[in-house]
Amino acid sequence: MRSHYCGQVTKKYVDQDVQLVGWVHRRRDHGGVIFIDLRDREGLVQVVIAPMNKEAFKQAELIRNEYVIQVKGRVRPRPEGSINKDLATGDIEVNGLELTILNTSEPIPFPINDYHEAGEETRLHYRYLDLRRPEMLGRLIFRAKMTRHLRRFLDDHGFLDIETPFLTKATPEGARDYLVPSRTKPGSFYALPQSPQQFKQLLMMAGMDRYYQVVRCFRDEDLRADRQPEFTQLDIETSFLNEHDIQHLMEEMMRGMFSELLNVELPNPFPRMTYAEAISRYGSDKPDLRIALELVDVGDLLKDIEFKVFSDPAKDPHGRVAALCVPGGADISRKEIDDYTKYVSIFGAKGLAYIKYNADGLQSPILKFIPESIVKAMVERTHAKPGDIIFFGADLTGIVNESLGALRIKVAHDRGLVEKAWRMLWVVDFPMFEKGEGRLSACHHPFTAPKVSTVQELERDPIHVLARAYDMVLNGTEVGGGSIRINTTEMQQAVFRALNIKDDEAQEKFGHLLAALSYGCPPHGGIAFGLDRLAMLMTGSASIRDVIAFPKTQTATCPLTDAPSTVDTAQLIDLGIRVIKKDLKNTE
Ligand code: AMO
Ligand code: AMP
Repeated sequence: MRSHYCGQVTKKYVDQDVQLVGWVHRRRDHGGVIFIDLRDREGLVQVVIAPMNKEAFKQAELIRNEYVIQVKGRVRPRPEGSINKDLATGDIEVNGLELTILNTSEPIPFPINDYHEAGEETRLHYRYLDLRRPEMLGRLIFRAKMTRHLRRFLDDHGFLDIETPFLTKATPEGARDYLVPSRTKPGSFYALPQSPQQFKQLLMMAGMDRYYQVVRCFRDEDLRADRQPEFTQLDIETSFLNEHDIQHLMEEMMRGMFSELLNVELPNPFPRMTYAEAISRYGSDKPDLRIALELVDVGDLLKDIEFKVFSDPAKDPHGRVAALCVPGGADISRKEIDDYTKYVSIFGAKGLAYIKYNADGLQSPILKFIPESIVKAMVERTHAKPGDIIFFGADLTGIVNESLGALRIKVAHDRGLVEKAWRMLWVVDFPMFEKGEGRLSACHHPFTAPKVSTVQELERDPIHVLARAYDMVLNGTEVGGGSIRINTTEMQQAVFRALNIKDDEAQEKFGHLLAALSYGCPPHGGIAFGLDRLAMLMTGSASIRDVIAFPKTQTATCPLTDAPSTVDTAQLIDLGIRVIKKDLKNTE
């Protein structure tokens, strides 16, 4: 039906016959001549139908936007003055000699060329139309190029692409599971994998040596702009490589992809930062290094002052008092400061103290509470200059880190302090555990190896033990995370114990893994990248939904298919399931 894609008909085809198919992007009548912008996957081309081509002209008069047509014609240069420099095909047009309508279209609910008029719900409902927009198509093409590049790299480096089950048993990655009821074993459920973590480790124990998979993962968690309930990982596992070998290989893969797809040269090697340093300087374990602002500790200066807002957290071993100096911020208005105060309260901050360094001296509601010499020391510590503002957070360490960390990013965006760059880094030396509700939980996942070699060392002071885990962070987003894994039953059991998982529970949930560890398990480790997140960042998209063909909404629904939906009673009976109507208001 076709000799060329519309978007590929360039000057070199002048005087040649072409046969095109595509959608009518736009039709214009110009004094008896009909112009059609014909669109397909590769772009647009202008087709001109003159009245002398009677049959074609008759058909052209009938067509409307989004009709599917076939055009046979000859390529010719556009007349001087009507060349369109913005279009790849802008210096030619196709003199349409024959035109066949392959299919008609109802008037579409939103224009393909101006989607801003349509809300996201409508766009998702008519996703097949939304995806016709060149911008959306471009993103999916880019994404396909990404996976092609990554697969090629891994294939070339001896990795095997191996599939792992979707109907499986829960693997903890910190989210809720999606469950699938079993018909053959009523009352039992499969869990959809939050990641193939256990299977990829088992593949190493099976001797596969290097594995990868572009794989869907399922996590029932609160959704944000960079999270989806089902998302895609580039999942990788290797045997006999240590963390440095793995990081080295993954850097090479990323540098190649950025260079090939974006013409961006990432540094060699990527910078590395410890978790402790990232938290201390940026209040976050995924620091956005495009922003130069940093948190500075001032608690030591404030321990002995009367002003309890500062001195209490300064004295508390679990507290922190930190400052954030914003260059040129002295012109931030009272109202903006109120807004920032409201913003940090989302993270539990009880207030947001500040000092403005005006041309005529310091200005702040807290100056009267703090001795002058200490104020001077605080200002010096932050290197503030006339024209700057210093914000302060004083609270439990976690609250200060989260609130000032988030404020740092917000203020930088508001005030144009974000460098235009690709700032990639490794964050390393994560703690093994964090304190959850009354018990420890795994910072990465419970299969991560500690940076100690014996169970005794682990058990002596678990909260201070570091993990052999690493995250790859790009412009403030965690794009990948991995670790060296535990490879003995003894250490794995010790970590389960530290996580308050009793031996019988560990046997029931992870007996298969504990057994496998005892049959000659090689040293192994790996990583998983969030492909959607990477695609989102690399295409400059505001939301992860823009790089997924058929994404879910913030409430995990699909406006196109209307999933999730109720099912027939017969199906439920088959599964032995009775649905209890939950009164959400009373149960939450
Ligand atoms: P982790 O849980 O860190 O590690 O996930 C790896 C990467 O997946 C991406 N990601 C997500 N992307 C979109 N929506 C989500 N809901 C979502 N959750 C995570 C992130 C993250 O860096 N099994 C381990 C990996 C390993 O140890 O090898 C794992 O899944 O970009
Ligand atoms: P108050 O004594 O509560 O009126 O607070 C005096 C100033 O300190 C105000 O600017 C508050 O916003 C600020 N402030 C109060 N609590 C905190 C806190 N935990 N961290 C930082 N600033 C605070």
